[in-house]
Amino acid sequence: MDLLMIPGPVQLHERIIRAMARQMIGHRTKEFSEIMDYCIKMLKECFGTKHDVFIISGSGTAGMEAAIASFSKVKRITCIDNGKFGDRFVRIAQRYTEVDALRFEWGSSIDLDAVEKSLANGSEAVAFVHNETSTGILNPAKEIAKIAKKYDALVIMDGITSVGGDEVRMDEWGIDVAVVGSQKCLGAPPGLSAVAVNERAWEFYNERCPFYLDLMAYKKKSKDLQTPYTPAVPLFFALHEALKIIEEEGLENRIRRHRTFAKAVREWALSLGLELFPKLNEYSRYSNTVTAIKMPNGITDKELRGTLKSEYKILISGGQEHLKGKIFRIGTMGNITKRDVLATLAGLEDVLRRKEIIGESALDVAMDILDEI
Ligand SMILES: Cc1ncc(COP(=O)(O)O)c(C=O)c1O
Repeated sequence: MDLLMIPGPVQLHERIIRAMARQMIGHRTKEFSEIMDYCIKMLKECFGTKHDVFIISGSGTAGMEAAIASFSKVKRITCIDNGKFGDRFVRIAQRYTEVDALRFEWGSSIDLDAVEKSLANGSEAVAFVHNETSTGILNPAKEIAKIAKKYDALVIMDGITSVGGDEVRMDEWGIDVAVVGSQKCLGAPPGLSAVAVNERAWEFYNERCPFYLDLMAYKKKSKDLQTPYTPAVPLFFALHEALKIIEEEGLENRIRRHRTFAKAVREWALSLGLELFPKLNEYSRYSNTVTAIKMPNGITDKELRGTLKSEYKILISGGQEHLKGKIFRIGTMGNITKRDVLATLAGLEDVLRRKEIIGESALDVAMDILDEI
């Protein structure tokens, strides 16, 4: 079996696998509501919110669409695209309202002046991706929300690969709606998404949104700690266990661990003379959950990732869309360990050394950083 070092789905903890192997329960029972209650409580902590959290049976994209469509009573929304998932927000929002698509070269940082200009021109909402998984960049959530507040605009954030692995303080930052996917930093299997929604968002509620993704239906049922339609019950068993693991680790420790893993990967890469893909400005940061590295000359994507998979049984990601073959991405999210990170870097070094792309090892650099936790 492969070791998954991709930015989701992540490797599952044994406890989470076992949690799913049990008899079904009714979703209108006290037993299910207790699971729901715990999941909501823990997800609120991960989102950094005291407001509502709704769980949808559907992958992260279902959560993105629910967030946009349910709150699409706006004349125009600004969607920020500096990667594949920002582009997805544009394409979702275009189905529901007029969109001002702010497009930046994938891998580059968001220009906050352009965001301000778009809002000053009358957009009533802004949607952006916090951790752009396709490029390994952490976008400036707090700063975007601050600008939006000046114009009273609704703020919708994709936190799909940040919530549960990096710092997200939705209420404090002024984010009105945020989304997470189960298969990323939360460490659960794919198939669930959660949307956190504050009271203000309901001013933008559009009752003509898609039936299944209408968050008002989720809100009504949440009073009984239930979902409006039959949920993916085994995935709730898994999410429940995944969140127990987060509670045991402690969210702060978990964030520190994610940051340390990503830093170890970055410093290792830089020590070997490899180049990180994101171009940062003063507001952006490198992602703490996925690292995007430029493909060095002298090796193809197939040789690099293919050999790592066939010889080491380790799976990392390539670039998406026009970045195919140009970058490779190492996910360091969820319940992976130092051993997993080191094995991945050692395997990569071996493949790179055989192609004479690197000489000396930089594993000691990574190990020194990993020793911090
Ligand atoms: C930042 C981000 N947003 C959205 C998605 C889409 O989520 P899903 O594939 O679960 O629908 C992903 C998946 O990789 C993601 O990384």
